[in-house]
Amino acid sequence: MTTAKSVEALFTPFSHGTLQLANRIVMAPMTRQFSPGGVPGSNVADYYRRRAENQVGLIVTEGTVVDHPDAANQDNVPHFYGEAALRGWADVVDAVHAAGGRIVPQIWHMGAKGQVNDYTEAEIAAIVEAFAHSAAEAKRLGFDGIELHGAHGYLIDQFFWEKTNSRTDRYGGSMLKRTRFAVEVIEACRRAVGPEFPIILRISQWKGTDYAAKLATTPAELEQWLEPLVAAGVDLFHCSTRRFWEPEFEGSELNLAGWVKKLSGKPVITVGSVGLDEDFMTLFTQGKGANQTGIDGLIERLEREEFDLVAVGRALLADPEWPSKIRDGRVDEFQSFMPEALQTLY
Ligand SMILES: Cc1cc2nc3c(=O)[nH]c(=O)nc-3n(C[C@H](O)[C@H](O)[C@H](O)COP(=O)(O)O)c2cc1C
Repeated sequence: MTTAKSVEALFTPFSHGTLQLANRIVMAPMTRQFSPGGVPGSNVADYYRRRAENQVGLIVTEGTVVDHPDAANQDNVPHFYGEAALRGWADVVDAVHAAGGRIVPQIWHMGAKGQVNDYTEAEIAAIVEAFAHSAAEAKRLGFDGIELHGAHGYLIDQFFWEKTNSRTDRYGGSMLKRTRFAVEVIEACRRAVGPEFPIILRISQWKGTDYAAKLATTPAELEQWLEPLVAAGVDLFHCSTRRFWEPEFEGSELNLAGWVKKLSGKPVITVGSVGLDEDFMTLFTQGKGANQTGIDGLIERLEREEFDLVAVGRALLADPEWPSKIRDGRVDEFQSFMPEALQTLY
């Protein structure tokens, strides 16, 4: 297996506002459950430092939850509130910055225990406030921005999707109304961090419960979805797909990230099976690993500026040196992704 093309496009710097990155490689957010009581310890700092040392341009942390009773359903998922957890995160930032890296936390709420329809306006306002509080803390701790998790069927996405949102008030109904909750979260975070602190929003068409789901079935619908989010203050979109090479709509090769860039005018991150031959849900549904593959197709799209940044998930779990090996042409040295990697997460 060889990579025939020059990988230079992946190693050109990226700059958007205050976000200055040495290259185009992003570590995708990946839940680890290694933070007992929600507090990230020194092993978490070591884990992210290892990726920064090996030239990951931007690290997006594992999902880390806001201060609300429904926000987490597992004890070992890190919190992004409270003194002890925030002290742990401060050490993570310092470790990554000392290694020359950049890092944003993925701010997460896993979703309504029942349905978003059950939340009253006061509850919604409290959750919005919890997001804004975490955003302010991210800035105070020295993070390089934040990513809001608006994908995969979690809370923000539950509001986006009509199958999980049948509210009849201002938060439900048309696409515009279903973006209302996200808009309030983005606006509150923007107020909390000021105009220059980067806010990334992760979105997906697919849901954990339905891979074929589509919030937008046409570019026009996608535009309706994106427009209020851009107006609310999103700086970059992180477009989650399981396979980056799949066209989003008929009649064009563009993937979801490509369409979002074209329609929103914002820089975008692509993701999905970069360097691997199996998509990541086969890990959860069938316990499957994945073998390394070349990245020529990815480089071609990056050179065409279909997207700006490239997030890499499992390949970076399996092999913290993935970016260095790509840059040096040591592709034959990649480690394949084995499910056992999840138990140690070196
Ligand atoms: C173990 C694991 C945990 C994940 N946790 C998260 C998460 O917390 N937040 C999120 O947005 N995506 C999560 N994802 C999805 C990844 O960010 C990424 O989109 C997916 O793995 C596809 O990239 P890959 O094919 O390069 O692995 C997770 C994926 C894996 C494998």
